[in-house]
Amino acid sequence: MHHSLIITMLSSTTTFLLFLTIITATATTTSPSDISALKAIKSLINPNSIPSYSCLASWNFTSDPCQNPHITHFLCGLSCSEFRITQLTFDRAGYTGSLSPSISQLTQLITIDLSDNKLSGPIPISLFSLPNLQTLNLRSNLFSGPIPPSISNLKSIQTIDISHNSLTMSIPDTFHSLLALTRLDLSFNGLTGPIPSLPINIIELAIKSNSLSGDLTKLSYTITENLEVIELSNNSLTGTIPNWFFLQPSLQQVNLAYNKFTNLNIPKPVESNLIAIDLGYNNIVGNLSPNFSTYPLLSSLSLSYNKLHGPIPAEFAKVRRLFLDGNYLSGLPPQEFFTAKSMVSGSLGDNCLKMCPISSQLCVKSQKPSSICQKSQYVVGGGKAKPKS
Ligand SMILES: *[C@@H]1O[C@H](CO)[C@@H](O)[C@H](O)[C@H]1NC(C)=O
Ligand SMILES: *[C@@H]1O[C@H](CO)[C@@H](O)[C@H](O)[C@H]1NC(C)=O
Ligand SMILES: *[C@@H]1O[C@H](CO)[C@@H](O)[C@H](O)[C@H]1NC(C)=O
Repeated sequence: MHHSLIITMLSSTTTFLLFLTIITATATTTSPSDISALKAIKSLINPNSIPSYSCLASWNFTSDPCQNPHITHFLCGLSCSEFRITQLTFDRAGYTGSLSPSISQLTQLITIDLSDNKLSGPIPISLFSLPNLQTLNLRSNLFSGPIPPSISNLKSIQTIDISHNSLTMSIPDTFHSLLALTRLDLSFNGLTGPIPSLPINIIELAIKSNSLSGDLTKLSYTITENLEVIELSNNSLTGTIPNWFFLQPSLQQVNLAYNKFTNLNIPKPVESNLIAIDLGYNNIVGNLSPNFSTYPLLSSLSLSYNKLHGPIPAEFAKVRRLFLDGNYLSGLPPQEFFTAKSMVSGSLGDNCLKMCPISSQLCVKSQKPSSICQKSQYVVGGGKAKPKS
């Protein structure tokens, strides 16, 4: 009896020691759930799209993904910390297939970069449960479907780039709750509906070349202290570009070209970092406001192909790159543009200007025929637009 108790105690000590050894051993290999997630991710990539030289071809599960040194396997695509996967990066090999929902098992992921491949289907919703994810780059793939509202669960996310995909429907209004988000690029998709309210810490917003509609009023509630770059060109935005839009002191670049804006209020700034403004290819009517020249750093301005009338203010000679072509601007262009000291480049062509010297590169493109210029004064009411207060 006594004897057998000792044996039991001894054997349980052995078991305990064995158990300790196993713990130590597992801490020097990649977490099994991470390995099964990687296997699931690879299994949904079409094998015919995995070239032998590629990263994914080197994912050979006969060795451990986080063990160093990687000599023949897992040559690239993964970073680990304490035997958990923290970074998943595909090379630009043109992989086809879809993204496995098992990616959510990689709970220590900080960075996902699958850009420049041909992955299709929806972005798996489970991905949005990753608590530590800071960078999501799915740029240039074939992901489709709507952006799920649950994207707002990515509490650590700082950068999202899902540009150049096939996303559709409207942008969920949950983005504004992503407090760490500083860069969002959803350009070149098929997104519709209004501009969403912006996250408070956003620095760069790009939603170029989609089918967004509506006006800019909604932004007024959310436009933020840190916003530096706003790129909304090539959508179907309408209405007036409001004066508060340009009064953000942090703003440096604004691109609203190729939309359907019809009016513009440009106030004098108190403090401004605006360097470049592109409002070309809209339907903006009225006169050119001299207020543009009161922006101290403004060096590039395009108002090409709108419906502007009246004279060009002489103060515009301060702007180095100036595109005013394709309007109904009239009168004599300011002589400041043509002095030897002038730094202005760009175009004043295709307007109704008198005596634009063709020796100047600004005037290379010819002016409109006088028949069109005379007609525009009656039809569009040029120069007779009511001044705005
Ligand atoms: C993994 O790589 C090793 C060494 O190159 C090779 O012997 C083995 O067949 C590979 N296993 C698989 C499943 O590809
Ligand atoms: C506008 O967007 C469409 C479709 O997204 C694209 O085909 C076209 O090239 C874009 N145009 C410009 C001027 O960027
Ligand atoms: C110029 O700015 C002032 C002050 O912000 C504003 O009251 C005025 O309407 C602006 N003028 C034009 C022509 O835009």
